[in-house]
Formats: sequence, C-alpha cells, structure tokens
Amino acid sequence: MNRSVLLLLATTFLSPGGVADVVSRGPWSGAITHESAVVVGKLDGPAQNVWLELSPQADFAAAQTFAPNTPAADQAPEIARIELRGLKPDTVYYYRFCSAGNAMDEDDHRSTGTFRTFPIPGSVASFKFAFSSCGRTGSTHAVYRQIKAQQPRVFLTIGDLHYEDIERDHREAFRSAYDSVLGSNSQRELYRSVPIVYTWDDHDFGPNGSDRHSPSRLASLAIYREYVPHYPLEAPEPDGPIAQAFTLGRARFIVLDCRSARDAAGQPDDADKTMLGSWQKAWLQRELLAANRKFPLIFIVSSVSWVSDETSQRDNWGRFATERAELSNWMVDQGITGVCFLSGDAHMLAADDGRNNNYARNGGPNFPALQAAPLDRSGSIKGGPWSVAPVLPEPGEGQFGLVEVDDRGDKIHVLFRGLNQEGEEKLRLEFSVAGE
Ligand SMILES: [Fe+2]
Repeated sequence: MNRSVLLLLATTFLSPGGVADVVSRGPWSGAITHESAVVVGKLDGPAQNVWLELSPQADFAAAQTFAPNTPAADQAPEIARIELRGLKPDTVYYYRFCSAGNAMDEDDHRSTGTFRTFPIPGSVASFKFAFSSCGRTGSTHAVYRQIKAQQPRVFLTIGDLHYEDIERDHREAFRSAYDSVLGSNSQRELYRSVPIVYTWDDHDFGPNGSDRHSPSRLASLAIYREYVPHYPLEAPEPDGPIAQAFTLGRARFIVLDCRSARDAAGQPDDADKTMLGSWQKAWLQRELLAANRKFPLIFIVSSVSWVSDETSQRDNWGRFATERAELSNWMVDQGITGVCFLSGDAHMLAADDGRNNNYARNGGPNFPALQAAPLDRSGSIKGGPWSVAPVLPEPGEGQFGLVEVDDRGDKIHVLFRGLNQEGEEKLRLEFSVAGE
C-alpha cells in the first residue's frame, strides 16, 4: 500500500486526527506564490502518518489535507516537507500538522502556523517586507518579535542565519545548526507567522569567509534543500547555487547565492574572478532581461554589499570589482531599469540613493542600495560610501529593514526604514520608480 493510500485511510477513518505534538522544530513556511507554498517541520520521528491540514479559517473548518513529500534515501525521514498547491491568491491560510493517534490539544500551538498567499503576479498591489542578516546561533533576541509585529508579507533572512562556521562535510552538523535556529522561541514564533526567503552568507554556508572551496560545501547545499522552505532552485545541478526568484505584486525578487560558487576573495581581481560563478551570472542576466519593463521594480538580493570600495579589502563586491563592472556595463547597455539592491553582512543599517552605485565605464547604473543588519551581533562598518550614513547598533540592539512598496499605478513608491527591536526608526530612504 503506498503512502498516499495510507494517508487517505488515516484521514478517512481516524479523522478528526490529533494535532501533532510531534513537531520538534519549526514549522516554517516559504516559497509563497499566488497559488502555492511550502511548509517544513521536523518531527520527533519519521514523518509517517502525518499530514498537514490547511484552511482559510482559523478554526480549520473545511480544511484540505496535504501529505509530506517522500524523502530521498539520503534525506532525514523526520523532516517533513509539504508542498501546498491549488491555493487562492492573496488569501490568509492557517495550517497545522496532524497525526493519527495523537490527542487533540487546542492549547498546543507548536504545530500550527499561518501565511498569506501573494497577489496574482503583475497585479497592482502594495505590500511590505522585512530583511536583515546576522543573528547568533539560536538567538532569542526581541528583534524577531518586532519583525513579527510589523506583519511583513515575507522576511528575507539574507545571511548568517547562524554562526556555526561548519568546516566538516557533515550533513548532521548542518541539520543540527537549523535545529538550533528553530529551537529559539522568538524565531520560531516569527517563522510560524511570516514566510521566509533565505539565502546564506559565510558563517551559515561554511566557515568564516567561506567560498566554493569550503570543505563543507556539499553538505551545506544538500541540507539547505532538505530543511529550508525555498523557491524552486534554478541551478540544473543538485549541488548548484541556491539562486532563486519570485514575484510579489509588480516587484521581481532575484535572490543570489554569493558563497557557494565564488572564488577566493584573495584571488587577483581580473576577468576570471567571480562572486557568482558562470552559471549564476548568466542566470542573473536572463532574469534581468525577462523582468526588465515587465516588472517596474526589481530587487537583487546579495548577502554582501554591492556598494563597496575596491580598496576596503573586505569580503564584499569591492573585491570582485571586475565582475561588478562587467555586470554594471551590461545593465547600462541593456537599459535595465527599476533595480534596487538589498544586502546584509555588514552589521549596520545604511542606504545609498544610487549616487555611489557608479561602476559602469561611463557611470551608472545608479540603482539604490539598502543595507540592514545585524539581528543579534555587535556593530561593524563595511562597504559604502553610502548617501545615508551607516547606523551601528547600540550595545544589545537588534536591527532590520522594513520596506514598504506602495504601488500607485503610474509610479511605485518605496520607503525603506531601518528599525530596532522597539520598532524605533534609525534611518530611512525613499525613492520612486516609474510604474508604466
Ligand atoms: Fe554577520
């Protein structure tokens, strides 16, 4: 008897099943579109006889049920990945893990969560999202509760999700790192109610300063695919970069992997040296060409800052200046418009209105760049120069960016505010792009 028949029997004869109290880590959701989503949760045991109930009503009336994917032989059987399809656009959904044989416990919220599907791609819609990077492993900082309180459509966690600096090519070490992240109550509360978009930086991809030579590269790439609710990964190889893209309203988000394909930062900065690798660079260019003018606003998500001085000798695009100039020339030549860069890594808030984003041979592309971090680390200055001066966290302070996209049809207004765990504004930048 196959798994889906078993599930059908379980839901038919044992229904109403119990809300599973077996979810030990998570759940967290991601890969949100207008019609689909992915939920991942780690259970105490193999994800058998477990299903997800999904309903647009908090009381789970008229719930649909979805079965977990069957894990591959080399994947952890207790990590349940559930792909939800056939959903309605722009609709709040509630989900909960259920299992036969567990007593219903209405007070047990550990297995429940919520998300809102996106509007139909290309439709005029206003929304807000949050982004930041750099939280101590398993951090319980109040900043995560503040991000949740802002009710963003998604939270882009764009590097240093943990600081395990894993050097061994050991899958269990990466599972354990995600366990620690999801073991934090304040992070768990955030991820249960706000979908994530996750790309890594060095400390969570591998060791400090890691690149494609990292000894833990393969395990890192494999466990990302196993444990993280992510958009379809565009790379054709199973160990390709975790580059992915999605559409929210009339904004296209292109999320880069700035670690797993990059050359060593110390390599001479010439035409061979790459941050993205040849496949990912070609993909980025295809994405930009496809998005240009179809979507008035395009966010390029780079864990490390794009706006950065070549002489800084820090671990960002300033040390890949030849490739950055190549891409800048290409964007100018192709007439790409409406781009905004998002970055983390540097433990500070900062912004540039585009004046310093001037890396093409005759100037340009002059796209704005927004910088937000750290969630829970002490401050550091990197990158720049910035038109809005960097703001470091006070001791004990956590910082994130909140971006409000106001689509007025003929133009789209973008308001970026850097906030702390109290919701206090520390920095802002506003700009508009043409909507038609
Ligand atoms: Fe960091």
